[in-house]
Amino acid sequence: MTQDTDQVRVLIVDDDPSMRAALRQWIRLAGFDTLEVATADQAMGKLTPDFEGCVVSDVMLEGEDGMSLLRRIGSLDGDVPVVLITGHGDVPMAVEAMRAGAYDFVEKPFDPDHIAEVVRRACDKRALVLENRALKTQLADGASLESRLIGNSPAMQTLRQQILHFAKTDAAVLITGETGTGKEVIAQALHDFSLRKDGPFAAINAAALPETMVEAELFGHEAGAFTGADRLRTGRIEAASGGVLFLDEIVSMPLALQPKLLRVLQEKKVDRIGGTKPVDVDIRLVSAANMDPREAVRSGNLREDLLFRLNAIELTVPPLRERGRDSLLLFDTFLNRFAAHYGLEVPGTSAQDEAFLQTYGWPGNVRELRNAAERFVLNAGVSPQPLESLVTGQRSEVMTVAEGGLKELMDAYERNLIESALRRHGGRVADVMRELNLPRRTLNEKMARHGLSRDLAGQSETTDA
Ligand SMILES: Nc1ncnc2c1ncn2[C@@H]1O[C@H](COP(=O)(O)OP(=O)(O)OP(=O)(O)O)[C@@H](O)[C@H]1O
Ligand SMILES: [Mg+2]
Repeated sequence: MTQDTDQVRVLIVDDDPSMRAALRQWIRLAGFDTLEVATADQAMGKLTPDFEGCVVSDVMLEGEDGMSLLRRIGSLDGDVPVVLITGHGDVPMAVEAMRAGAYDFVEKPFDPDHIAEVVRRACDKRALVLENRALKTQLADGASLESRLIGNSPAMQTLRQQILHFAKTDAAVLITGETGTGKEVIAQALHDFSLRKDGPFAAINAAALPETMVEAELFGHEAGAFTGADRLRTGRIEAASGGVLFLDEIVSMPLALQPKLLRVLQEKKVDRIGGTKPVDVDIRLVSAANMDPREAVRSGNLREDLLFRLNAIELTVPPLRERGRDSLLLFDTFLNRFAAHYGLEVPGTSAQDEAFLQTYGWPGNVRELRNAAERFVLNAGVSPQPLESLVTGQRSEVMTVAEGGLKELMDAYERNLIESALRRHGGRVADVMRELNLPRRTLNEKMARHGLSRDLAGQSETTDA
């Protein structure tokens, strides 16, 4: 097996400077990079659990011998190969060392070719161990991604591979796909399977905030920056430092803020509103759009230079109707999950339900299918009905206790309240917020969940505005 020796280092441990120099010379001639230290303590300072290389150490070190170094390395990473250099007459020690897990030993005075050969074998072995380790974590990651981003269609399999692959990089990712296709699931996975997984995942949805608040949310502000800014506030960009910043619905980003955002991406610095000096940030950017971002560029809603910064990698999530039998697999999984969640029996599906699952267009994609599965589970015990009528609602809007569980009734009640308030106030969200005493974000979330928009005021029966 050959390897790229660029990153492979051989750590030489010897308290004799002339020995170190000789070892360095032969090992470098063999094509390896070297690090040299004089003591076991210094050696431990250089090693990490995934150290790419091997250790060559004299068995007689000052203070601490090679045997105890061997043990210390073993407790850090039992697979780092340690080659011991022994003086003549140290054979019993060498035997003990091999028993204790040394990779090999070389007797002084050594033959340069021999030491090069031993080091090469040790480093090859190390590369193999590290490769296997990486493969194993990849497999484990793959399995858990499969349960988060369900689907056996070729498109979903490719998508999962891409996610695991690109998660390991810091390149900006733009995820495009219709509503409910799983863009947020993907953004979160790009964080969770990356080296930044222990850092923050900070999400911001420009469309869910009033335009005037987006800037302060994103960039933060100093105390006294504007009326009402009584305290310093860190923005989402700063809060994402060390992790991932997720800009949802990027095409709704106010045009006026786009140059400022571009600057953050180019210079990795953020200017707080009212701030005097920029703050360094270390972020990986993931963004999402539910329309073609090029269309948004053409219509003047998205700056082209910003798009070029966002889409180093572009992941396209296909709509559910193009994923073949994935709808069956997803529905079945959700039925099981919701049944377990509510402590109910897993309802059976009819051939008719299954046909519907595959032929319906699912405009709300996985989100819609998931909601349907939840209602299907809840209804099954009291008033079972074909999935089709449950989804397309070809039936009376009035729900009775017999038809819905408590959650449905509450949901329907909430939806009615918000809907009628919207109608009464002619779609003026600020007035609805006041009447229902709801913060804007909560109201937006609820409206989105119930599929309500402020426009419904226009198409309504009567408004008293
Ligand atoms: N492949 C999938 N496997 C399992 N669950 C999924 C999958 N895709 C989406 N979901 C679930 O569907 C719902 C919607 O997904 P998500 O919020 O990621 O969609 P989205 O593309 O961000 O939608 P929107 O554009 O409306 O924000 C979530 O509950 C999510 O967990
Ligand atoms: Mg989303």
